[in-house]
Amino acid sequence: MKTSIIENGIKTNKYESINGLFGEYGGMYVPPVLEGKLLNLAAFFEQTKSQPDFEEEYIHYLKTFVGRPSPLYYARNLSEIAGSKIYLKREDLNHTGSHKINNCIGQILLAKRMGATEIVAETGAGQHGVATATAAALFGMKCKIFMGATDAARQKMNVSRIEMLGAELVLTNEGRATLKDAVDAALGYYIENPDVYYLLGSQVGPHPYPTMVGYFQRVIGKEAKQQFLEAEGRLPDHLFACVGGGSNSIGLFADFLYDEAVAIHGAEGGGEGAVFGKTAATLSMGKPGVFQGTFSYALSDENGDVYPTYSIAAGLDYPGISPQHALLKDTGRADYHLVTDAEAIEAYKLLSKSEGIIPAIESSHAVALALQMLKGKENQISIINLSGRGDKDVERKLL
Ligand SMILES: Cc1ncc(COP(=O)(O)O)c(C=O)c1O
Repeated sequence: MKTSIIENGIKTNKYESINGLFGEYGGMYVPPVLEGKLLNLAAFFEQTKSQPDFEEEYIHYLKTFVGRPSPLYYARNLSEIAGSKIYLKREDLNHTGSHKINNCIGQILLAKRMGATEIVAETGAGQHGVATATAAALFGMKCKIFMGATDAARQKMNVSRIEMLGAELVLTNEGRATLKDAVDAALGYYIENPDVYYLLGSQVGPHPYPTMVGYFQRVIGKEAKQQFLEAEGRLPDHLFACVGGGSNSIGLFADFLYDEAVAIHGAEGGGEGAVFGKTAATLSMGKPGVFQGTFSYALSDENGDVYPTYSIAAGLDYPGISPQHALLKDTGRADYHLVTDAEAIEAYKLLSKSEGIIPAIESSHAVALALQMLKGKENQISIINLSGRGDKDVERKLL
């Protein structure tokens, strides 16, 4: 079914969702078998998210299991190289090595309260697969992770971790065997087994996932804002984050959206450059359309068929994007830029050697963009979201 079941004519606020719509973007474009299930999830999320005991449990696990708050680190050496002051929000230091665990803890607590016993998820870089398998192990739930075979070959360490954590890994060889194909496989399994809980890992897919994932990642920006104010006594001039489906970036940006003097920049997986089939820069090169359950930008042709994508970063190699980022792009509140593989690799090497921090190749795109955009901005101060650590990428010898 390709019609939105969200009623038209709902008044929207400026940058956030009302009933699953971010301006004209978002909604729920799914087969009838999933509609009732997702509406039920949306209602359950709305009524549960601010219950004091739910919030308490979520914060408890973020503190004691994930290790939050993550530090906001003044990167002196990187700042010297950039000629501009830079702080790194250290999501790489979270348990399991990326921001993905914030969302997994929130959603698994919801799933537990809904009585779910089996969790299913997709993964690209493997970080969401690891985080989901971790959360499932923690709460004694059965877990199945879908992953493209291409991604499994380029993120071997995370494949081993997922298996070590007791989850079942299901590889798909469809398409280019990357994140899009893993989402298709996971959605397919969900449609056939609507009693499982689908723990979606980015700010994509049908309502309520973009709203829910954004909500659980918001902790990044809440902490960063407070930490930055304590360190500098004012707001930052710039925020940078890499954008795959959009979850770590919205996590950092959300609490600054109405501070209009703070410039917001997203780095997309540009692959080999601005050529369809060789890039994954969805907002830079795509156009609005329905893809994988939501209305947002997609890298699609005039018939609505998506182009194959390519990025060196498995976590950015995806033709869709969060509907909230689509709105932020259209309103001009944030800007989005294509960062090539070569530029990301340079930043990956530079941060490793100058700061002693090996970033995920996804996060390296944000570092590369910051270095480009901060030229000549010596009196300004920025935060880069370091969404994950690069242990998973080291054996690929990206030199
Ligand atoms: C470390 C890291 N950063 C960023 C991303 C991109 O995802 P998102 O845009 O949802 O943050 C991924 C996805 O796997 C990731 O593993």
